[in-house]
Amino acid sequence: MMKYLLTLLFALAVKGCVGQNANISNRYFPESFLFGAATAAYQIEGGWNEDGKGESMWDRFVHDNPSRVADRQSGDVACDSYHKWREDIQLLKELGVKLYRFSIAWTRIMPDGTPAVINQAGIDYYKNFIQELRANDIEPLVTLYHWDLPQHLLELGGWLNVQTADYFAEYARVVFENLGPYVKLWATVNEPKTTCMNGHGWGTHAPGLKLIGDGVYQCAYVQLLAHAKAWRVYDEEFRASQGGKISLVLDCTWAEPASDSALDAEAAERDLQFNLGWYANPVYRGNWPQEMIDRIANRSSLEGYPFSRLPEFTPEQIDLVNGTFDYFGLNMYTASLVQWQDDSPISIPDYSLDKNTNNYVSPDWPKSVSDWLTSYPSGMRKLLNWVNNKYHPSEIFVTENGWSDNGQLDDQGRLTYLQSYLSNMLDAILEDGINVVGYTTWSFMDNFEWHLGYTEKFGILQVDFNSPNRTRTFKSSGKWYQRLATTRCLLDQCVD
Ligand SMILES: *[C@@H]1O[C@H](CO)[C@@H](O)[C@H](O)[C@H]1NC(C)=O
Ligand SMILES: *[C@@H]1O[C@H](CO)[C@@H](O)[C@H](O)[C@H]1NC(C)=O
Ligand SMILES: *[C@@H]1O[C@H](CO)[C@@H](O)[C@H](O)[C@H]1NC(C)=O
Repeated sequence: MMKYLLTLLFALAVKGCVGQNANISNRYFPESFLFGAATAAYQIEGGWNEDGKGESMWDRFVHDNPSRVADRQSGDVACDSYHKWREDIQLLKELGVKLYRFSIAWTRIMPDGTPAVINQAGIDYYKNFIQELRANDIEPLVTLYHWDLPQHLLELGGWLNVQTADYFAEYARVVFENLGPYVKLWATVNEPKTTCMNGHGWGTHAPGLKLIGDGVYQCAYVQLLAHAKAWRVYDEEFRASQGGKISLVLDCTWAEPASDSALDAEAAERDLQFNLGWYANPVYRGNWPQEMIDRIANRSSLEGYPFSRLPEFTPEQIDLVNGTFDYFGLNMYTASLVQWQDDSPISIPDYSLDKNTNNYVSPDWPKSVSDWLTSYPSGMRKLLNWVNNKYHPSEIFVTENGWSDNGQLDDQGRLTYLQSYLSNMLDAILEDGINVVGYTTWSFMDNFEWHLGYTEKFGILQVDFNSPNRTRTFKSSGKWYQRLATTRCLLDQCVD
């Protein structure tokens, strides 16, 4: 009787717990699952011109015209992680994560981006950092490029010049040679779509170009060649001795059909192809999505072009790019509702007219401090299924996912967001059988959020940017994530 009562009480307790969070999974994450956190060099390091570091296009972009950043701030000091790296590692350890995703500043290793000068101090900095991570039982996931192109390479044409792909491969080789013995997980280029759209289409990010009809496609083409060349360098020269994995990291907003009409479903599918397929298809299948090839060729022709604004891969380039993956790196934050619309008349060339969908967000979705970021947790599970069905990756890392607010310590909005997105990710793993093996939340700590400066905060740890000490403090979400990393359970209690 006593045993029965206890069981009943336990069942009620679990049920009560689930009841409060009706949609949150009460199952455990697999034991092998890697919980982690993510950052990027320019957003946290500071030390922008120290110890031989060269100037990046972000250094130039913010110094030249501070009004390009919402609060006229820069990443000159940021979280001062360049100096506070030992403390960061102790905090990661306290957080209980087994994986840390960070990026290398190309300009610390090669100050002007070319192999003419290799800066030993930069190599040493990252070598010490990585060895200290490993000593604390934290696996590094190292991104080679998180948007901070050397300024000199920008002056050579940056991501619009195909030669930049060769410079990237040279940089990658130097990094593999020096740091490869201590790294098992690499990411080549982070979020090429966002760099190309924001930096070369809308002009809100460095280098501030507004080339929405053609620059965005050329940028995608060069970044894919760069990724592929770096991947081949690893595959041919380092894989056998170093035994790591290397892939591209792609970001995607889930596209939810605005209604159950076939046309809205078609528009949502096209939206995903123009966002994720744009980069994933060449790498996982060998070429741009056919629908992009057809639509852009068509409109280019009607606009008077003798060729498509979407650059064509040569057969050699297809062989170069096709198959350059070991895992799928996915950054996922938000969703939009997508509605079919009639093709727009021919006017000025524009990516949005090529894609031609009507995207908006539902007023029912919780909104962060940012316009683009709303919470639609089931989009995570749906997108993982879409990726899995299209590209059949052997494993997926969710390399970014997070929520922005004003930086308050009691960040219940972020906690709820993370809990519900992670629950959908867990359902994708346990219910749909998708092999998501690790997750690095964005972000480990508040940092320089590009053109938004310090006006928006993504950290599960707070950083006091008013203190020269840049004091770090766990937020509510950080304490919650710390418990999750230890218990592998999203609620107070889980069942097997
Ligand atoms: C890409 O590689 C795969 C696997 O080797 C192959 O089946 C496919 O035909 C290739 N795609 C192209 C466009 O060459
Ligand atoms: C290309 O344009 C023609 C003529 O406007 C149209 O009939 C056809 O459907 C278009 N194809 C695509 C893929 O947009
Ligand atoms: C500096 O920050 C660390 C932790 O981030 C904290 O322990 C220390 O008390 C801070 N010192 C000052 C002077 O604020």
